[in-house]
Amino acid sequence: MSLTETSRLTPQTPLTEIDPADSGHQAKSTMPAIVHRPRRLRRTETLRRMVRENSLRVKDLIYPLFVMEGEKQQQSVPSMPGCYRYTLDLLLDEVKQAYELGIGAIALFPLIPHDQKDNVGTESYNPDGLIPRSVRAIKQAVPNILVFTDVALDPYSSEGHDGIVQDGKILNDETVAVLVKQALVQAEAGADFVAPSDMMDGRVGAIRRALDAEGWINVGILAYSAKYASAYYGPFRDALDSAPKFGDKKTYQMDAANAKEAIKEVELDIAEGADIVMVKPALAYMDVIYQIKQHTNLPVAAYNVSGEYAMIKAAAQQGWIDEKKVILETLTSMKRAGADLILTYFAKDVALMLQS
Ligand code: PBG
Repeated sequence: MSLTETSRLTPQTPLTEIDPADSGHQAKSTMPAIVHRPRRLRRTETLRRMVRENSLRVKDLIYPLFVMEGEKQQQSVPSMPGCYRYTLDLLLDEVKQAYELGIGAIALFPLIPHDQKDNVGTESYNPDGLIPRSVRAIKQAVPNILVFTDVALDPYSSEGHDGIVQDGKILNDETVAVLVKQALVQAEAGADFVAPSDMMDGRVGAIRRALDAEGWINVGILAYSAKYASAYYGPFRDALDSAPKFGDKKTYQMDAANAKEAIKEVELDIAEGADIVMVKPALAYMDVIYQIKQHTNLPVAAYNVSGEYAMIKAAAQQGWIDEKKVILETLTSMKRAGADLILTYFAKDVALMLQS
């Protein structure tokens, strides 16, 4: 059947799908012929669905979760309405629910008690620390969900930085040595992917070599390759109580004005052995996502970060936007920009929306 045939109102066409203002057949016009009528492909939902270029799928989503010490508690994060820090027992319920909704992966972030923080992030490579214990418990309770663990010092750092501080500076190579230990402990606990979010130079290569040397050849690396020094991380730092105690992160995270540098960072991480590369934040960096997708055949991830989440939640709470529609539009636009995978606190909401 040709499109001109289907564009006539026929009894077989379900009436609910027809836009009453656009019935297809029109009186002869005196206008000169219009050769291309792009609106023809937008006439009904079935048709729009058929020619749709990109779609958001639950399998694209990675669900970031906050874990804390203790039992039977969940604490709300005020700047991230609907997000909680869970004790491990309740976290397991959340992970089960997510998996049942079709979410295939989670990313774990710990809230570390103050007395366990120090400048060198010693707790980050404690084999019995909160993250290794959580990974083991999740892998036992929900063996098929993929677990991504965060490699960085900030949740463990008394200075709130992603690296070791000396005289107000962030040391690179000394930090990488700690990140390697952290990644090995996470691999040992059962992490499927380690995800360095610290932006130290050379860390992907150092982690890859160490994993391979210890036999963890199948543990992957999701590299936060183009991670910008962004004000959009504010609510996340509230959630983990991990804000820098002095200064900012601009000597290691990228300058918001740069895009070519993102490609350089991605090239380095690929050369060093990254399996998946990421752009973070997502919404204000769509051009970077697009360029990186053109540049590599590796899967590209985008992190729909805490500030992006908070903005939608805040406007929705005011009744100023339609929350569900804005969530779907926003995440779909990340797919259109080129993201294969999206880390998002909306993962469960999206799974529910896509079901109905
Ligand atoms: C730190 C880290 C941050 C986020 C993920 N890992 C914050 C930062 O770099 O200060 C932010 C995630 C979010 O805002 O949702 N290694």
